[in-house]
Amino acid sequence: MDDGLRKFIEGMPKIELHLHIEGAMEPEMLMKLAERNGIELPYKDLEELKAAYKRGSAYKDLQEFLDLYYQGMNVLRKEEDFYDLTKAYLTKIASQNVTHTEIFFDPQGHTERGVAFETAINGITRALDEAKTEGLDVEVAGRTENRKVTSKLIMSFLRHMTEKEGFETLEQARPHMDKIDGFGLDSSENGHPPTKFERLYATLKGEYPDKRLMAHAGEEGPASYVWEAIDTLKIDRIDHGNHSLDDSALVERLAHDGTGLTVCPLSNLKLSHTLDMDTKQKMVSLKEHRLKDMLAANLKATVNSDDPAYFDGYMNENFIAIAEALDLTKEDITKLARNAIEVSFLSPEEKIQKNEELDTYIERDRLSSQYVKQDTGHQRFFA
Ligand code: ADE
Ligand code: ZN
Repeated sequence: MDDGLRKFIEGMPKIELHLHIEGAMEPEMLMKLAERNGIELPYKDLEELKAAYKRGSAYKDLQEFLDLYYQGMNVLRKEEDFYDLTKAYLTKIASQNVTHTEIFFDPQGHTERGVAFETAINGITRALDEAKTEGLDVEVAGRTENRKVTSKLIMSFLRHMTEKEGFETLEQARPHMDKIDGFGLDSSENGHPPTKFERLYATLKGEYPDKRLMAHAGEEGPASYVWEAIDTLKIDRIDHGNHSLDDSALVERLAHDGTGLTVCPLSNLKLSHTLDMDTKQKMVSLKEHRLKDMLAANLKATVNSDDPAYFDGYMNENFIAIAEALDLTKEDITKLARNAIEVSFLSPEEKIQKNEELDTYIERDRLSSQYVKQDTGHQRFFA
């Protein structure tokens, strides 16, 4: 890739809208927490654990990844563990010029193991609050900089569990609603359509009208699951949504409504995303990704990392990989960044401020590309 474009992506102020905090568990962090909590792992060393994470290869499907992901969560026992995990993720994205993130957590993945709801949420929110107020110390170009990151917290329901269990989890969440900005639906998609949670989502919408609703849909499941998410669950944003492109009426509807799609390129590659539901053809290269088709269809597509520790990349790696594979231009990249601002859950005033920040960055980039490096090593302005 052109070095200029890589630097443009790296320096661009970015917003992340699809991130599972449990999916930011790097193998090193997993080992550290296992040791701290006296948990024996089924891996003899870090190398073996990294092999389980399929570094440099792919999972067979979503379920193969989820089995590893739920097993990895088992090292999260105390509030401090959730705090350390969240702080490590925030520090990493701050170093990548991500200024705002909207993160999921899976309370049922913890309460099922006997870890209290408040243990998880208190650890996560302590790190989120510190990043907003005190900021994070980030190593940039050999020196330490303090950077602030703002965030929203989205509580996700596991769709492989029953709706009744979802309602029970909602009861546990009630005392913590001041920390929760929205609700999501994740885990094994096929066989667990959005309609399974129709009553739960109706309750959420009725009782918490100020909180946002979203659902993973069209990741492994068909376009009909995306229809259900918008018409039955009445979501504000779709997570993934790749299979929306299989249905032209759905594409028209999503474009008309301006519904955000939180696309996760490296996740799709690493989970062997099914490109064609009939032939079952699997994605083997990001060159096959349909992100450009989404932009061409006027869909509010965005770029996100999903589970960065398990999918080999945070925001910069996702942007760089997809830009390289699809030959994206600076205009495409800034469009993706603007879409993220637009479909984020920031206030209208905050969105204006984020767009201005991006305008300043683009203008500075435009001016600096009018300079050419001369033999002397000095820069010259090309009027
Ligand atoms: N939970 C964590 N990552 C997920 C994904 N990519 N799809 C569904 N559920 C998830
Ligand atoms: Zn996800």
